[in-house]
Amino acid sequence: MSGIKIVGYGHFVPETTIYNDDFKAIIDTSDEWISSRTGIKERRVAVNETTTELALRAAKMALEDSKVDPSEIGLVITATMSPDSFTPSTSSKLLGELGIKQAMAFDISAACSGFVYALNIATALLNQNNKEYAIVIGTECLSELLDYSDRTTCVLFGDGAGAVVIKKTADAGYFYAMSKTDTENILYAKAIRGNDLFLNSKSTDYHLRMDGRKVYKFALDAVSDAISQVLEMSGLNVNDIDLFIPHQANERIIMSVCKHFDLDFNKFYLNLERYGNTSAASIPIALSEAYHGGKIKPGNRVLLVGFGAGLTWASTILKI
Ligand code: ACO
Repeated sequence: MSGIKIVGYGHFVPETTIYNDDFKAIIDTSDEWISSRTGIKERRVAVNETTTELALRAAKMALEDSKVDPSEIGLVITATMSPDSFTPSTSSKLLGELGIKQAMAFDISAACSGFVYALNIATALLNQNNKEYAIVIGTECLSELLDYSDRTTCVLFGDGAGAVVIKKTADAGYFYAMSKTDTENILYAKAIRGNDLFLNSKSTDYHLRMDGRKVYKFALDAVSDAISQVLEMSGLNVNDIDLFIPHQANERIIMSVCKHFDLDFNKFYLNLERYGNTSAASIPIALSEAYHGGKIKPGNRVLLVGFGAGLTWASTILKI
């Protein structure tokens, strides 16, 4: 299978910032607890924007950065676990605004691994079709899924979007993606329907629920596994990677992984102190920030690694 090159990077986060101490007005918590347990200091919350609008801002920035004409985009894939509608998809809604008349467009749901899954799918589809370019997006309005009386989840998540324009290349592409059933339901948000003719007692709880300790344990194994597997596929070793961009969930998870591979912590890009966990958006926001901030340059090798609900985990190595 051929690979891809990223030719445009974009991201967008809403303006409203919620600091750790702001939660003290509604739950029993502290900046000390949240920052020492997670590394998170603040997060952005979409007050005026929808999940689709965040995606649009990020995708427009990526498209402008790429200088690719919209008519050349053959595929748009959005990864999200907080879409504005079951149908039409976020991707379909974006086409007109991006100036794309027609393209294959759909969303995928793979939680915090969603962006890496979507890159993998886009690579395979570009390979099968006679189109050169795709837009891949991760976007979330997780603030709308949170239960603000549940201190174990509401402090962790934030809103935002990241996007890339990718071009098909002849280079080999390396992807590893896995999922297993979460038999214990340690991480979920139920899809609620308004109308139920027969089952009046059906649950109306759509909030994101998580058993943090169990997810933490899963994450340590999943991230190490995903990194090892994609390195093995590529024949590279950790020292061949210029920057690791992990899903931004918890600084302690990233530190443990760093220790496991005996790596310098500077090799990992972190922005979770500013945005919290933005699920499918976290990796593309970090990737775009790293690129526009000069942390990665043409010729560098970047390893992206995600993990989350499903349970899912996924990784890829990209040449910038
Ligand atoms: N403020 C103050 N105290 C709190 C808070 C809070 N916000 N939240 C929980 N506590 C309390 C708990 O109630 C508990 O109190 P108790 O001992 O009296 O019962 C105590 O702190 C310890 O709770 P733990 O859950 O054991 O805390 P832990 O050290 O495990 O940290 C955390 C919790 C930060 C959630 C951690 O487990 C974690 O990061 N897990 C991984 C989450 C993750 O990576 N998710 C990614 C996937 S997300 C996705 O896919 C959408």
